[in-house]
Amino acid sequence: MTSQTIPVEPFDIVVFGATGDLCERKLLPALYQRQRAGQFSEPTRIIGSSRSEFSNEQYRALAKEAIQAHVAEAEIEGGELERFLARVSYVSADGTTGRGFEELKAAIGESPHVQAFYLAVAPTLFGDIVDKIDKFGLASPSSRVIVEKPIGRSLETAREVNNAIGRVFDETRIFRIDHYLGKETVQNLMALRFANALYEPLWNSAHVDHVQITVAESVGLEGRADYYDKAGALRDMVQNHIMQLLCLVAMEVPSSLDADAVRDEKLKVLRALKPINALNAERVTVRGQYRAGASNGGAVKGYLEELSGGVSDTETFVALKAEIGNWRWSGVPFYLRTGKRMATRVSEIVIEFKPIPHSIFGEAAGRIFANQLVIRLQPNEGVKQWIMIKDPGPGGMRLRQIPLDMSFAESFHERNPDAYERLIMDVIRGNQTLFMRRDEVEAAWQWIDPIVAAWEERGQTVQSYTAGTWGPSASIALIERDGRTWHESF
Ligand code: BG6
Repeated sequence: MTSQTIPVEPFDIVVFGATGDLCERKLLPALYQRQRAGQFSEPTRIIGSSRSEFSNEQYRALAKEAIQAHVAEAEIEGGELERFLARVSYVSADGTTGRGFEELKAAIGESPHVQAFYLAVAPTLFGDIVDKIDKFGLASPSSRVIVEKPIGRSLETAREVNNAIGRVFDETRIFRIDHYLGKETVQNLMALRFANALYEPLWNSAHVDHVQITVAESVGLEGRADYYDKAGALRDMVQNHIMQLLCLVAMEVPSSLDADAVRDEKLKVLRALKPINALNAERVTVRGQYRAGASNGGAVKGYLEELSGGVSDTETFVALKAEIGNWRWSGVPFYLRTGKRMATRVSEIVIEFKPIPHSIFGEAAGRIFANQLVIRLQPNEGVKQWIMIKDPGPGGMRLRQIPLDMSFAESFHERNPDAYERLIMDVIRGNQTLFMRRDEVEAAWQWIDPIVAAWEERGQTVQSYTAGTWGPSASIALIERDGRTWHESF
């Protein structure tokens, strides 16, 4: 039995925002899959809540549709879905007024089990909902609260959100999700680094030339213009997902997998990031915005055409050169980039090692490439270690670069669980290792805020790129100026 299938104790999960996109696309399917994997103990209950008026039956119908839409047909087998729906109920409640919270309290009853309150709602409602949870006495000592980004849009607003939640729940009971931390390959990064003796001696400025982190998406706005146009790629992807990946690559070896041991090390990385501000932002950052182009084989609109307003300086692409001021990483650039409507959907981390100091091979042997370790987070999860070998056969010593290739899909024929499956079960187990601590979120904003301020101060506007490409040419220039290139052989 793996930790993926060890049953957890019975629990009650109350989802606020139960008729929203996150609940339908991610939470209900994730809970269903965990039941299917045999991880639930009885009586586990799922209570949906939102402002809309639904009867239990109506909500179960909605939940059924959501699961049928987001779970593979073959995984909805005989009776499993009905067993799942039998544990689902619904209470209409309004966090701003408190309407329905008495009913919610009655629905939870005198449950001795762990309760998780999932706030799948806009962050502006976090404070109101936790206040009502407190005021109406819904929480017990074993209750916990789950929230998700955006946690603020600056250090100041993140503090407000954290203070509002912190008034009711102490830090050990707050689970801040960054769903990238629940991804299988992201956790594999820790296994790769800390369960193998091979890499650690090389994992520093003496041997690593630079690191690249790319999170490229082929999708555009996906109907989220209201949120996205106020956020932009820096806040939407870099402040959280990409900085978390950077922390996992760069952190020191924690003394254990204990939540605070890991989070203490990540925090040290965040605090060691060299500032990007008005003095250097133009040199080390690139902002882009896509114009009309092609994606997934069809023509797509530009960003401005997708917005109803039609005018915006919001970046849909960002590339940055970050540096960490500590002994391990001094002088090793971390090139980060993310964007919407890029050439393909791919997330990967590339560790490029230094070139050999001296070649004993003649020119006829061909170019000797530096070793690269490529950790592919999605899709086609896997790890490739690129090495040089002799080209097989006669004809003298010609060299060739090949990957030692480990594809997870080919090596393991197991379903790759969605990040939310792992994360929700970790909440029930009370394991905070894969959740962001308050100081981490705030330290990340502390680094991001001066970048935003510099863009405003220096009037650094977005550069246009064609949808379906790798972003503005300035992004290529950013890395090529340093004599390096983005890794693009996907
Ligand atoms: C979310 C962002 O956090 O992550 C979205 O708000 C983005 O804009 C998404 O599309 C990407 O997640 P994934 O798991 O599809 O890589």
